Amino acid sequence: MTVTIVGTQLGDEGKGALVDRYGGAADVVVRYQGGDNAGHTVVEDGEEYALSLVPSGAVRGTTGVLGNGCVVNPQTLFSELDDLRERGLEPDVRVARRAHVIFPYHRRLDGIEEEAKADSGEEIGTTGRGIGPSYEDKAARRGVRVGDLLAPDVLREKLEHVVPQKRALIEDVYDADAGEECDLEALHEEYADYGRRLGEEGMTVNCGDYLADRLADGDNVVFEGAQGTCIDVDHGNYPFVTSSNPTAGGATVGTGLGPTVVGDGEVIGVVKAYLSRVGSGPMPTELDGDDEAEALATEIRERGGEFGTVTGRPRRVGWLDLPVLRHAARANGLTGIAVNHLDVLADLDELAVGHAYELDGETIHTPPTRTEAWEECSPVTRSFEPWPDVDWDAVADEGYDALPAAARTYLEYLESELDTEVYAVGVGPDRDQTIELVDPWDRV
Ligand code: IMP
Repeated sequence: MTVTIVGTQLGDEGKGALVDRYGGAADVVVRYQGGDNAGHTVVEDGEEYALSLVPSGAVRGTTGVLGNGCVVNPQTLFSELDDLRERGLEPDVRVARRAHVIFPYHRRLDGIEEEAKADSGEEIGTTGRGIGPSYEDKAARRGVRVGDLLAPDVLREKLEHVVPQKRALIEDVYDADAGEECDLEALHEEYADYGRRLGEEGMTVNCGDYLADRLADGDNVVFEGAQGTCIDVDHGNYPFVTSSNPTAGGATVGTGLGPTVVGDGEVIGVVKAYLSRVGSGPMPTELDGDDEAEALATEIRERGGEFGTVTGRPRRVGWLDLPVLRHAARANGLTGIAVNHLDVLADLDELAVGHAYELDGETIHTPPTRTEAWEECSPVTRSFEPWPDVDWDAVADEGYDALPAAARTYLEYLESELDTEVYAVGVGPDRDQTIELVDPWDRV
């Protein structure tokens, strides 16, 4: 049985808490794309664990898998694993041999390319983790895969091919010093050592075979999408996107299981009750432009702790954007949604959503395909009655009917617009501050 969890917005929906919740009944949690750009915080027994690559389930004994669709930075992987072990845990993490490896030159190029784009105001605002450059190498068929780390001679051959190209790019195109990121001998030594460690610890797998066997044994599998639909390289606001497919289709390509496996299960979209975004790109419902809007944005940002987990950058904040959610519901084939951060919107002076967009005198209900046009959209807002601040712990205890009536109206509007059911409602950051209406494991 499978449950796929995806972000419906821009990547900061608070998926971690939900993966944590549904991961409790799972035997395996699989990441199928992205790399150490996906910051997530897991709280277990009062201990806080900040992870960016290791799947969150690994903190509580669930097998964590990094699928073939991931790009893996072994430095991050082993530093996170070492940290968890030092804190007394025994994480069981498997890595697909077909996953691609992030090298120091990828991170370096990520920084250099962003700087170059910044000169003309075109930077993406990446996390600087080398994600884009590493996926570029994958698509250009010069990438190094995790399986290659296990064979030092093959690794050397591949590095001999690719490192001079990176050196030339850094020195000749960007006029920068290539430095230690392009020191072939040092790279080979360090990365062959990671390969030795991966081999000794029996961490690498043929991902599709491994997961098919676990499913055949009757295990429950969660596919954990990192980032979100609007920063999907195909379905997002290109080029302000990450370089992979966080949408549910990625769960098949990025693991080696067929679409029928993912489609047979549940696909849950995580929705933050408002919108936030790290980095550049269109955001028609952004709260900015005048003092009143900016004061509201500041209030929501501070209450919601809207600062990037990986970068610490303050996030841009806006009203919930329905065109974005309609797009996500279709692109992911959502069977249910989990709406969180509802408590953050309590007691505001005003509350609205972007119900549609207006573009060139027309009203549209899903985002335009061209990002430049998306930038020009203005929101057609719909006002909602703000709900009062209440004892959210008590509400979480008592369940859905204890939510303020205005909050229920907001959720029911979402259900009807997206033609899907609300499975869970988050009213606070802790695990027990989620109201569960539907347990997806009962549905699969
Ligand atoms: P990259 O993934 O580092 O290449 O960054 C590309 C874009 O995706 C930037 O706008 C980042 O801020 C955004 N991004 C990447 N990972 C995350 C995430 O986990 N949450 C939110 N935004 C992200």
